[in-house]
This record gives sequence, C-alpha cells and structure tokens, in this order.
Amino acid sequence: MKKALIIYGTTTGNTEMIAEAIKQELDAAGFETGVREVTAASVEDLSGPQDVLLLGCPAYGDDEVELQEDFADFYVKLDGCELDGANFAVFAPGDSSYTHFCGSVDMLEEKMESMGGHKVAAGLKIDGDPSDENAAITGWAREIASRL
Ligand SMILES: Cc1cc2nc3c(=O)[nH]c(=O)nc-3n(C[C@H](O)[C@H](O)[C@H](O)COP(=O)(O)O)c2cc1C
Repeated sequence: MKKALIIYGTTTGNTEMIAEAIKQELDAAGFETGVREVTAASVEDLSGPQDVLLLGCPAYGDDEVELQEDFADFYVKLDGCELDGANFAVFAPGDSSYTHFCGSVDMLEEKMESMGGHKVAAGLKIDGDPSDENAAITGWAREIASRL
C-alpha cells in the first residue's frame, strides 16, 4: 500500500480543512495517509517511510511572504536536511487580494527543491474558503495519486 504524509500548519483552520479533504481522497485512492500538524512534526518525518510528503502552509505576510507561525518554526529546522529525491507537493489556502497570493507555496517548493526533493505536482493554491473549492482539492489529490 502506498503511503502519504501530510504536514500542515494552520491558524484559522482552512489549511486543516484542505489537509483532511486531501487525506480522504488519497485514502479513497488506496493510500495510507497520515496527517500531522506541524507542531507535532520533526525533520525526521521528511525522510520516510512515505511515498509522498504533502506540505500545507498558508502565507501570513504583508509586503513580503511570511509562513504561518508554527510552520515558520519548522522551516528554520530544515537547513542542512537532505531529501534525496523524495516526492513532495505543497498546498495552501490564501487570499488573492494580497500581493503574494499563496506565496508560502512558492517559498516551500523552492526550499524543498533546494534540499533535493522531487516536486510531483504544481502547488495547489486555493483562493478563499476551501469548502467552495472541493473539486480543485480532490482533483489535485487524484493527480498526485495517479503519479505515484
Ligand atoms: C495578516 C495576514 C496576512 C496574510 N497574508 C497573506 C498573503 O501574503 N498571501 C495570501 O495568499 N494570503 C494571505 N493571508 C490570508 C491567509 O493566508 C488565509 O486566510 C488562509 O486561508 C489562512 O489559513 P489558515 O486558516 O489555515 O490559517 C493573510 C491573512 C492575514 C490575517
């Protein structure tokens, strides 16, 4: 059975909502999917045993991109970690009225690629209430499942 691990940070609950919807879809596609809030995650989680790692983190900056505060604590621990080709993808809810719409997705993708990760799908950026975007979320999860 293929395994996925979702690590997410959330302040108002939107990223958690997306994480749960992705889990449901991956499980339905035959995956065993773990979901972990970033406060309970460690850098050791990045190196397996999952087949794909999904990171969920909203942006909370203004003029510049800032990661959700719990995720920002995790991000600083990533320096020096090696992903050795491990599969990953990034998702976030956001608000397109900000200068850097879901800028956290681009920032994390860049970081994960610099650590040797392999991006399996373009980042998922959800504008506004995730419950209005279920089709986009499930479609993204299905695309990832089909690529592994
Ligand atoms: C102070 C503040 C700054 C924000 N900055 C951004 C931003 O730069 N880009 C963006 O797309 N959304 C931004 N947002 C919107 C949040 O990322 C969005 O509400 C998201 O759904 C929150 O996710 P969460 O509920 O998981 O915490 C900002 C929200 C606040 C309150």
